[in-house]
Amino acid sequence: MTRELRMGNLKMGLDLDLDLKRFRYARAETDVLQDIKINIRPGTVTAISGDSGSGKSTLGAILGGILPRTGLDQFEGAITVGGKHIAFSENESPRIDPSGWAQHIAFLPQDANDYLSGIRETVAEEMAFSLENRGVPRKDILTRIRAVADMLDIKHLLAQYAGTLSGGQTRIVALGALMVDNPQVLVLDEPLAGLDKNAQNMVLSAIQQLKLLGKAIVVITRNYVHGADLVDEVLKLEDGELSRFERKSLPSNQESNLDKKPAQLTGRNCSRVLLEFAGTNLGYQPSAPQIVSGFNLKIHAGECVALLGPNGIGKTTILKAAAGLLKPTTGKIRTSTFPGLLLQNPNDQLIERTVFKEVGYGLRPGTESRRQVAEVLDRLDLRGKAEMHPYELSISERKLVALASVLVHEPEILLLDEPTEGLDENAIGVLREILDVCTSKGHGVLFTSHDDSFVAHAANRTVQLNAVENAR
Ligand SMILES: Nc1ncnc2c1ncn2[C@@H]1O[C@H](COP(=O)(O)OP(=O)(O)OP(=O)(O)O)[C@@H](O)[C@H]1O
Ligand SMILES: [Mg+2]
Repeated sequence: MTRELRMGNLKMGLDLDLDLKRFRYARAETDVLQDIKINIRPGTVTAISGDSGSGKSTLGAILGGILPRTGLDQFEGAITVGGKHIAFSENESPRIDPSGWAQHIAFLPQDANDYLSGIRETVAEEMAFSLENRGVPRKDILTRIRAVADMLDIKHLLAQYAGTLSGGQTRIVALGALMVDNPQVLVLDEPLAGLDKNAQNMVLSAIQQLKLLGKAIVVITRNYVHGADLVDEVLKLEDGELSRFERKSLPSNQESNLDKKPAQLTGRNCSRVLLEFAGTNLGYQPSAPQIVSGFNLKIHAGECVALLGPNGIGKTTILKAAAGLLKPTTGKIRTSTFPGLLLQNPNDQLIERTVFKEVGYGLRPGTESRRQVAEVLDRLDLRGKAEMHPYELSISERKLVALASVLVHEPEILLLDEPTEGLDENAIGVLREILDVCTSKGHGVLFTSHDDSFVAHAANRTVQLNAVENAR
């Protein structure tokens, strides 16, 4: 039976309880989550952690009212929110009124683009969207937008079109749009991923303030070390089941056992230049100020170089230009061969209906290409996913599929945009091995990252972009 639930006016300071017996996606053969009980209380921060594919984002989407999709997914259990009990069973699948739900319980998806409408002219208009729909007076909307933009340090982005934001800017703007709505419960999936240090601190201090205001906050994260002192309880998901940890038992540094990469080049023929930027200017509109000015860089055979800098400085822009997706306005870009590019958001890179077809896209059909695809899927531990639709995978698994589709062509120059974003420690270890193999073959790697630990262990050299070099 399907019935629509209206949330109506609920009191301030909401309790949210989930008693989940089982959840299974439509068309799936096994349950993703079983026997999970969670109690979210006002004025607390709950972290939900777990490896890639453990079900974190699914759990977040259930708390966020996005799942189950009525008539498709199987969900048995109950959600109690502000005293309202909503039971789900094989025979009863109430349809949650999404806008009513979102007024009280807001959900920031792991792909923050999904939170923004994409149809508003500016960031400010995006942030105004839900309050406008609820008929809040314009003056009050503007006051709220200004307060949130101040809190997150995004005032400089308010007049920009949201479709042209960088990866990190998109996430913080989506969080701002969500906060403008003033929900009682905030479920945030990887809210710090892809953010520079300043933006991370802004988000952590916003979470601190929201907690003091009595909001209930759920943070879904693979790395709960950042902001650990804000967290009241950590729930760890393993194979769809939950265990609880006291905050004091958290590891102080999850990544401390990684080996250091030697700082010297080991590749053969390492004086050969594979990629060169010479006095390169890059921008999206010739008449507007350039995003990157006078950029110089050489990547030699066997080198793994990290391109660093704050959100919106132009790192993705440089990688896109190296891959030939953006022409320099002035200056030169020279490449020895056609580079392979892993985009920051894997959703922008996946077009086929199965993982196997996706990875084999562009290869000449035949036994040899099937062997190549199978081999790269093995290397990335994706063999079991070969017949799945890429959109049935978690974002981290999609990222690995996108990486596989690049690696299968064995590019001599590998361009990776935030390759560790959303990956768990296992997958990061696999990625490091892949980079080592590439450089030992004399290939060159240029990657962007906000993940200091990965940079320290994977890069031979770092290049720092800053606003002074790139007068904008
Ligand atoms: N298609 C576009 N049109 C106009 N401006 C754009 C476009 N894409 C990006 N920009 C702007 O260019 C600047 C650089 O963006 P870019 O994506 O290169 O940043 P980034 O350094 O990769 O940031 P992040 O760390 O957040 O990924 C940003 O200010 C962004 O708003
Ligand atoms: Mg970027």
